Amino acid sequence: MSDTGTLARRVMSKMDDLGVRVLERLEELYAIGGGPGANRVGGSEGEQRAHDLAAAWMREAGLEVEVDVGGNLIGRSGRARVWTGSHLDSVPRGGKFDGALGVVVGIEAAERAGAGAVVAFRDEERGCAGSQAFVELGALPDYFLELHVEQGPVLEREGAPLGVVTAIAAMARGERVFEGEAGHAGTTPMDARRDAMCAAAEYILQVRDAAAAIDGAVATVGRVSVEPDAVNVIPGRVSVTVDARAPDRARLDALLKALGLDRPATLEPAQMAEEPRAALAAEVERLGLPLVELASGAGHDAGVLAAAGVRCGMLFVRSLNGGISHSPDELTSPEDIQLAVKALTGAISRLSPSVREER
Ligand code: GLV
Ligand code: MN
Ligand code: MN
Repeated sequence: MSDTGTLARRVMSKMDDLGVRVLERLEELYAIGGGPGANRVGGSEGEQRAHDLAAAWMREAGLEVEVDVGGNLIGRSGRARVWTGSHLDSVPRGGKFDGALGVVVGIEAAERAGAGAVVAFRDEERGCAGSQAFVELGALPDYFLELHVEQGPVLEREGAPLGVVTAIAAMARGERVFEGEAGHAGTTPMDARRDAMCAAAEYILQVRDAAAAIDGAVATVGRVSVEPDAVNVIPGRVSVTVDARAPDRARLDALLKALGLDRPATLEPAQMAEEPRAALAAEVERLGLPLVELASGAGHDAGVLAAAGVRCGMLFVRSLNGGISHSPDELTSPEDIQLAVKALTGAISRLSPSVREER
């Protein structure tokens, strides 16, 4: 067992058993990629191993396990109309909680509620491939509740362990390519160069400034590919990825226009639905916690399901360390996880009877 595993066990010995299994399972998932950080990129052997582990945990919880054509793992309790879950893939060198927390707590909650289904969607980080395939299959749940770490600083600042999500930001991902001319780094005079890297560098700063000029917008160049990629050759071709986000479609469109992105892949902003929001809020209040409602800047599978017409709600769990995420420093406390198990279990139960009445 790793040092963090030992530490988690010591912390857990002070808790009732509500969050113990959750933390042990998060440690098991975290160990898969070998570190540093979580390394279960979509489509990798690491993601598959995580799905195999989760399938065993679902069976242990008495759920019927199946895998859909998109490779998503589903554990059902009867004819469940309320689904919960998240994803098990991670970014390279990711954190312990992003995605994994929603699946692991979801299994606990479905078992405790004796109702509901839990899903682990494939390949969320690179564009929600699993949930996109899921909504194309058509057999959609009535409600989807996604539990996720906040990945931001709001709940920590407000002193609130849990938060209810109002909406998920609009997002677009695209690529810009800069063509220059490869040449000798030692013999080509500065005024005779067509250096693709210099053009890309100017663009990257333009991306930063364009996002900063729009309220609530953010944009990131996270990957740069250089050809021929050699220390003594002037770059002949450089491509950069752009990830752009804004609270609504109008602001996203304004940002994309400023960035000159050609037909980026876009995820629409998604509103969370009234009944699941109310069920989650009622649980937060039942636990005696302050009710904080907030928008999500990160993308989530719930956004894909909401766009397909599923009534979705999201429960955020406080991120510590200033809300850092997509990093091994991502941190959420065992106490907050216990509260999350209780709130999600309660919300599944609240929504399940009304679904039965509808039938
Ligand atoms: C998913 O983590 C995202 O990029 O928002
Ligand atoms: Mn996530
Ligand atoms: Mn993520």
